[in-house]
Amino acid sequence: MGRVRVGLIGSGFIGDIHAAAFKMVPDAEVVAVASPTPGKAKAFARARGIPKAFEDYRDLLALKQVDMVTLGVPNYLHAEVAVAPAVRFYVAGTFNAEENSVRDQLAKLLAALGG
Ligand SMILES: NC(=O)c1ccc[n+]([C@@H]2O[C@H](COP(=O)([O-])OP(=O)(O)OC[C@H]3O[C@@H](n4cnc5c(N)ncnc54)[C@H](O)[C@@H]3O)[C@@H](O)[C@H]2O)c1
Repeated sequence: MGRVRVGLIGSGFIGDIHAAAFKMVPDAEVVAVASPTPGKAKAFARARGIPKAFEDYRDLLALKQVDMVTLGVPNYLHAEVAVAPAVRFYVAGTFNAEENSVRDQLAKLLAALGG
């Protein structure tokens, strides 16, 4: 397997620590960062040598070359940002599991999150 390609969602205090930590991991590479404040993700990316920057985290999640993401956003956004990729994979049909099984899992996940 090649290097794990990481997307950072959030470019604040902990996002900066995540970026620095991944620099120390030879098998990981930060390929994108997302932050909604205009210009902030771009400046963050430029300063740390990250190739792509987005204002909308959903644009980062749409990248095929992202293997994992880290959440560096306020707690109230964790559920939304974590559920979005699951829904995206489901809609894109990339799960190998039976469709009903995936739908059941998503329903349980959404119920657990209070949605
Ligand atoms: N501060 C700490 O010591 C610390 C330690 C461990 C974990 N954490 C956790 O990290 C998370 C972030 O904390 P922080 O201290 O980095 O906060 P911060 O305020 O420094 O950064 C938050 C980031 O989230 C971004 N953001 C806000 N809305 C967004 C959205 N819709 N999409 C994408 N990005 C968005 C902001 O632009 C900012 O870059 C929290 O869950 C916190 O509990 C913080």
